[in-house]
Amino acid sequence: MAMLQLTGVRKAFGDNVVLDGIDLTVSAGQMVCLIGASGSGKSTLLRCMNLLEPIDDGAILLDGTDISEPGRDPQPVRTRIGMVFQSYNLFPHMTARANVELAPRRVRGQSGAALSDRVAALFARFGLADRMEHYPDQLSGGQQQRVAIIRALAMAPEIMLFDEITSALDPELVGEVLDVLRQLRAEGMTMVLATHEMGFARELADTVCFLDRGRILESGPPARIFETPQEPRTRAFLSRVL
Ligand SMILES: Nc1ncnc2c1ncn2[C@@H]1O[C@H](COP(=O)(O)OP(=O)(O)O)[C@@H](O)[C@H]1O
Ligand SMILES: [Mg+2]
Repeated sequence: MAMLQLTGVRKAFGDNVVLDGIDLTVSAGQMVCLIGASGSGKSTLLRCMNLLEPIDDGAILLDGTDISEPGRDPQPVRTRIGMVFQSYNLFPHMTARANVELAPRRVRGQSGAALSDRVAALFARFGLADRMEHYPDQLSGGQQQRVAIIRALAMAPEIMLFDEITSALDPELVGEVLDVLRQLRAEGMTMVLATHEMGFARELADTVCFLDRGRILESGPPARIFETPQEPRTRAFLSRVL
């Protein structure tokens, strides 16, 4: 079943056409990885899915409903589609727990024991039960990024978008963040990732999409894309990064 469906999505910044007719279907429980050179449009595509950028043409359907109509309130959609960025942007003056509870309190009006129990359960689920009352500067980059993931999960999203969430981390901290994604995937979360972690994409993605100048030049199961890429530009990209 298509959880998220993009058809003919086009996005330009001035004269610069950044997404040029994107068709993409993400089924429930699937993990889709977007790969491609810097500037190929991966971040913009994720931002459009989350209504952080309006699209110029085409449609984005969430569970069959067109969410891309102009003028639609993005907030209800953003609670259903969580997003995590390369920079985790936790508030430095708030504990990890307070950072995670902020949006459920403000957007959902949640509070009290129901919220704190749910949040504590999330920290426990991702191995951070003993870090809840720490401030961001008392946490490693990997732990801060895991808190940022928990913050997105606290809104109980149906889909999660991840934009190169390990790119700013020291190499020894990448593994613990990828382990969280691995766990989410095993739990059946529907996910779309822009990533440079080719080994991870190869191991876990259902579908890999190679973006080139705003188009999905080719897509398919990771074994196909990584072992027998059809397009010269995909081959050139992979030979640079593998
Ligand atoms: N807010 C913006 N305003 C103008 N141009 C942008 C903006 N965001 C992205 N771009 C341009 O869109 C293109 C794709 O960028 P991006 O989606 O960040 O690619 P990627 O994530 O694959 O590196 C680039 O040419 C970039 O300069
Ligand atoms: Mg990017």
